[in-house]
Amino acid sequence: MCGIVGYTGPREAGPVLLDGLRRLEYRGYDSAGIALVTQNGDLFVEKRAGKVAVLQDALGNRTPSAGIGLGHTRWATHGRPSDLNAHPHSDCTGRITVVHNGIVENFRELRSELLAGGHVLASETDTEVVAHLVEAAYEGDLADAVRSALRRLEGAYALVVMHRDEPDRLVGARLNAPLIVGLGDDESFLASDAAAIVAYTKRVIFLADGDVADLRPGTATITDRAGAPVDRPVDIIPWSAEAAEKGGYAHFMLKEIHEQPEALTAAMTGRLRHDKICLEELDPIRDRLAGIDRVEMIACGTAYYASLVGAALFQEWLGVPARSTVSSEFRYSPPPIDPHTLVVAVTQSGETADTIAAARLAGDRGALVVAVTNTVGSAITREAHASVFLQAGPEVAVAATKTFVTQVVTLVMLAADVAHQLGRLNAEAELGLVKALRRLPAQASRAIELAASTEEMAERYASANGFMYIGRAFGYPAALEGALKIKEISYLHAEGYAAGELKHGPISLLDADVPLVAVATRSAVYEKLISNLMEGRARDARVIAVATEGDTEIERLATDVCWVPDTLEPLSTILAVIPLQLFAYYVAVKRGRDVDQPRNLAKSVTVE
Ligand code: F6R
Repeated sequence: MCGIVGYTGPREAGPVLLDGLRRLEYRGYDSAGIALVTQNGDLFVEKRAGKVAVLQDALGNRTPSAGIGLGHTRWATHGRPSDLNAHPHSDCTGRITVVHNGIVENFRELRSELLAGGHVLASETDTEVVAHLVEAAYEGDLADAVRSALRRLEGAYALVVMHRDEPDRLVGARLNAPLIVGLGDDESFLASDAAAIVAYTKRVIFLADGDVADLRPGTATITDRAGAPVDRPVDIIPWSAEAAEKGGYAHFMLKEIHEQPEALTAAMTGRLRHDKICLEELDPIRDRLAGIDRVEMIACGTAYYASLVGAALFQEWLGVPARSTVSSEFRYSPPPIDPHTLVVAVTQSGETADTIAAARLAGDRGALVVAVTNTVGSAITREAHASVFLQAGPEVAVAATKTFVTQVVTLVMLAADVAHQLGRLNAEAELGLVKALRRLPAQASRAIELAASTEEMAERYASANGFMYIGRAFGYPAALEGALKIKEISYLHAEGYAAGELKHGPISLLDADVPLVAVATRSAVYEKLISNLMEGRARDARVIAVATEGDTEIERLATDVCWVPDTLEPLSTILAVIPLQLFAYYVAVKRGRDVDQPRNLAKSVTVE
């Protein structure tokens, strides 16, 4: 979704904001803008449709000197991407300016009221009403005016507001959209994501819903919307600015694919104890875990595909009904939920609105909610009774890669830990799993090496009309994820299908220009999968197989083979997806796509 950054302090604000916006661009990139209160006391605003580079070109070398400002990259929700609809938005007096992430759901009603009251609104956005509400409430104290305006807003927001006449003060507020405060020496920041400010400070405050942050250089006072002070701890961001940079790779996505062995290691750090799997984060909820009799997983997109592995394992190891539902559908047909239901919300960003809403519904109905997320301090952690972090480090590319494999491995550990607690995982099985988990990072490195051939393969497949991805059992989520990667970054149509379903319809799509990609790693369903692969062959489709090293049969059957190391079936999803990620990456590169920031997408989707 949108990216926000604000600064007040002794540095030149313009370059700090532009730098922050570039680092946030993955959150949305339909338009970008900045506002500054200049050394002369004027409010300077520049905003453009398009990426931050377009804004930067428009600014040229005329960014005025200023010690305070705010900036925004937008992913359009209300109003098309245009210069006019780009943030920041200002009030009638041109003194107050606002950037916003989220949706003001009652903006039409507020807009009519403001227009009737004589305000002039220039854009089609929901955000502009906020500037005018603050204007109407302003009596010399910006924080008071913001709090008063907030009381009128329904929906979701992360806001930063600035007033020309209070030239060292920024006011931020959050409700259902991320916003953090950064504290430096004599300088303060507001940002939707630590990536924007980590180059300047690692000391941050994660604001909670309902918080209003009143910033001056080096200080932040946090209150609730009524103005009562609230205490929030200062956290230290554990990663460096370099960690969020490309590190020599052509794209963040390629870097993040190569980081997967390390990310898997990090995800398992502290969680494998000799022959046991132990997630300490679950300790406070052990009593309730002891009584669970059903598991519901909720997630979107890539996280949903990862959750399919989790659901299969909960069901197999615990022997209780377990399933996964796309978060946005969960609410419309909620399953029976009671205090014995474990709901696992899987979300990289921790800010996906659909997943948060589904988790909240489950929590309200008494479920035990566990979040599996990459983002400490994110909204989902406040909905959950316990949070298990992926520990994967920042993922910048819009297309998820390392967070998929760390979600799968974390869910494997979560299911194993709970099964162990309930006495349903025997020691031998657990030991076998621990051994396989320990081998996994090295095997992921090997899978990356073996997938070098995908670059040359992509040359031959980049002009295909589309792709059909198939898999069974633990190969099925890998097929779904492989197809999603192709769709997202190469803009080619791809279907991810349960292999057994191929013959029930989609097989008619196959021909010489629609290749079949089959996840055919060693498993109990291998023979059946091979039959499905042959069905494709018989329709002239070229076949790419993902197969286990040492499989001598498959080379005769497939046009191309991507080899992966052998592992336990529940972990095979992790290794099988690696060549599919790289294949999608190289196809997108050959097709000249914007790999890290594909069109129409945003890294974190904070609208329902
Ligand atoms: C795909 C992708 C999306 C996300 C989905 C959920 O590459 O990144 O499908 O997986 O938007 O996001 P999170 O995990 O942040 O809830």
